[in-house]
Amino acid sequence: MTTIKDVARLADVSTATVSHVINETRYVSDELRARVLEAMETLDYRPNVLAQGLRGGETHTIGLVVPDNANPFFAEVSRAVEDVGFARGYSVILCNTGDDLERERAYIDVLVAKQVDGIIFIAAGDHHEHLDELTRRSVPLVLADRDVDLTDADVVLVNNERGGYEATKHLLDLGHRWIGCIAGPSEATPSADRVEGYVRALREARVPVEDAAIETGDFRYQGGEAAAERLLGGSERPTAIFACNDLMAIGALRAVRGAGLSVPHDISVVGYDDIPLASAMSPALTTVAQPVDQLGALSTELLLSRIENGSVGTAQRIMLETRLVIRGSSGPPPQ
Ligand code: RIB
Repeated sequence: MTTIKDVARLADVSTATVSHVINETRYVSDELRARVLEAMETLDYRPNVLAQGLRGGETHTIGLVVPDNANPFFAEVSRAVEDVGFARGYSVILCNTGDDLERERAYIDVLVAKQVDGIIFIAAGDHHEHLDELTRRSVPLVLADRDVDLTDADVVLVNNERGGYEATKHLLDLGHRWIGCIAGPSEATPSADRVEGYVRALREARVPVEDAAIETGDFRYQGGEAAAERLLGGSERPTAIFACNDLMAIGALRAVRGAGLSVPHDISVVGYDDIPLASAMSPALTTVAQPVDQLGALSTELLLSRIENGSVGTAQRIMLETRLVIRGSSGPPPQ
């Protein structure tokens, strides 16, 4: 039986181009369109109506669901996903859930209705009942960055416990013993893992872990500033602050200055992500760099492999590593 690959080979185009001609899902030049139609005529190719009927065939479109596209981290992940997707002939529909579960559910329904070929999903929380719908419909799914207890989906994570440990050990090695921590939303697994790394590094150095030293933020600038103000207003002022993402660390820099203190002379600040803004701060932010491009590209490659190979094979669970980037916002504690 003639397949879409036979048509693509004869017309000397990608299968994506053949699909776009059939489904009219993207502009194709007259020349390429003519070659595709001629090849289909020559091979007497009829698109697989059954497959199209079941899942609307291939739309060569993937969905990307993120919690906050205003956060540069997710903007960079989105760029990496789109770069790989476009190169392989796929369009990307970006859905921003605003950390809202109802919006997350709504967007899952939208993507299913639009018959996307697969979804890359960064969860807003630690739930997954509405992802079961995707499993039931055999929609290829890759979970990225945030872990969700779901068995039949590829998962691409970052070793956040190690990243939190390295950030805290850097401050301990500088001589800090009162290190505040600004955690992200408790339901976001990356933040919980980073705090675990913070605790492990303190315990390893036989430094007491104080509840008062850990404040919770919201992964946003204002939340980081408010959490840092609470840490600075405590009975004993920290000499260093580890924030579980760069936006909160930048908020902490503002809070330290607002208290009339200087970074790093009075207080060191370390962030997490290494968004482009981190190196542009004054002083430049010491932070834990996430492998954003690799995270986005690998998630996309895994998804396209499942889309093009019929979602075969056992689910993969991949853990990527971080890198500590030491800049001017961290230094020895005040004497
Ligand atoms: O800055 C947003 C955070 O949420 C990042 O650290 C990333 O890991 C995501 O989970």
